[in-house]
This record gives sequence, C-alpha cells and structure tokens, in this order.
Amino acid sequence: MSGLFITLEGPEGAGKSTNRDYLAARLREQGLDVVLTREPGGTPLAEKVRELLLAPSDEVMAADTELLLVFAARAQHLAEVIRPALARGAVVLCDRFTDATYAYQGGGRGLSVERIAALEQFVQGDLRPDLTLVFDLPVEVGLARAAARGRLDRFEQEGQAFFEAVRQAYLQRAHGAPQRYSLLDAAQPLEAVQRAIDALLPAIVGRCRG
Ligand SMILES: Nc1ncnc2c1ncn2[C@@H]1O[C@H](COP(=O)(O)OP(=O)(O)OP(=O)(O)O)[C@@H](O)[C@H]1O
Ligand SMILES: [Mg+2]
Repeated sequence: MSGLFITLEGPEGAGKSTNRDYLAARLREQGLDVVLTREPGGTPLAEKVRELLLAPSDEVMAADTELLLVFAARAQHLAEVIRPALARGAVVLCDRFTDATYAYQGGGRGLSVERIAALEQFVQGDLRPDLTLVFDLPVEVGLARAAARGRLDRFEQEGQAFFEAVRQAYLQRAHGAPQRYSLLDAAQPLEAVQRAIDALLPAIVGRCRG
C-alpha cells in the first residue's frame, strides 16, 4: 500500500497552514489516516535546521548554504516522517516542500533550476508530491497578513522584488505541470478558498481509496 503525498505551497501569509488544517479535518471525516507536517522541519533535528534557516543573523547566509540546509532538513524529514507514513498508506499533508525550494532559493535567491533539480534527485530519488496546492495571492496581501503576526523571520525581511520572484516561480511551476498542481486564488475570503478545496475532495479521496 502506498499513501498519498499532498503539499501546500505559496508565499508568506497565503493560508497554507490554515487550509492544511481544514483539508486534514475533511479527510479525517472520511476515515483516512492523515499525517500533518511542515518544512523546513517536521522532525526534532529538522526543526533545529529550520531555526538556523529562519533566524535573522548578522552573518549573511550564502545561498548555497541555505540550499544545502533546506535539503539536509528534507532528507531527515523524508527518512523519519514522510516515507514511513506513505509506506503505511497514510495521506501526508506537508506545508511547503521542494516547490518552495524552487520558488525561494531558485526564484528568490537566483540559484539555477539545474542545481536544485540535482539535489532533489539526490535526496528524494523518484519521490515527488502526488498533488500540490499552490495558494497564489498578490505579494503585498500576503506580507500584510504575515506582518500582522509580529516579528519577521529572515525570509519575511526580504523585499517586494524577492517575493515577486517567489510568486512567479510558483506560477511557472504550476502552469508547467497542471496535472500535478491545483492553483488556488488565495486572495479570496477564506470561505471561498475552502469551497475550492471542497471541490478537490472527491478526487483526493478517490485516489486514497483507489
Ligand atoms: N483567504 C484568507 N483571507 C483572509 N485571511 C486569511 C485567509 N487565509 C488565511 N488568512 C489569515 O492570514 C494569516 C496567515 O494565514 P496562514 O498562517 O494560514 O498562512 P501561511 O501560508 O501558513 O503563512 P506562513 O507562510 O507565514 O506560514 C492567518 O491569520 C489567517 O487566519
Ligand atoms: Mg504557515
């Protein structure tokens, strides 16, 4: 038996975590075994790497250091959480995964797609998400939602141009493989976003039972 691997992507404040919890509740109502997790992080060790990635620091982190830390945390998360859960047939809902690496370290930091793809293959082998929900919204709307939560992390301190590049990288990936991505308009009221998620449920449940 192999489970279903669903990732939720999008910029700061897009609603990934809120809607991950919503989707988890809907899937559990169907009696499915659902594992909720997030990146960077998802295990105690990987959460320590997350702290290194998010903490503002006087020392500028080289882009390659950032990329390698992201994938180091991912290797741990795959080994400890994601692969075991999928192996027992669970639905894994992961808040950010490798699309975020293409968006932030690729689009945002300007690292090449080839470099990221090489590490993706090295760390994941052939494992890719079965479905990725991309929460898209104008940069300023997301940043306003994130700012309302208080102190900004190392990424949230980046400027408008960085987040525009992140957004465009996500959109490009979603448009490039429409069978794997569901693009959601996250600027709508939460209820409307959740109706859009409801519309995806039959297909998701069908794939779990299929
Ligand atoms: N469609 C929406 N309309 C208005 N507010 C929303 C909507 N979706 C989420 N929010 C609110 O915006 C804030 C950010 O949402 P959430 O934490 O789910 O985003 P996120 O994508 O997980 O952000 P981050 O990347 O920073 O973790 C929360 O206060 C949430 O209640
Ligand atoms: Mg979140």
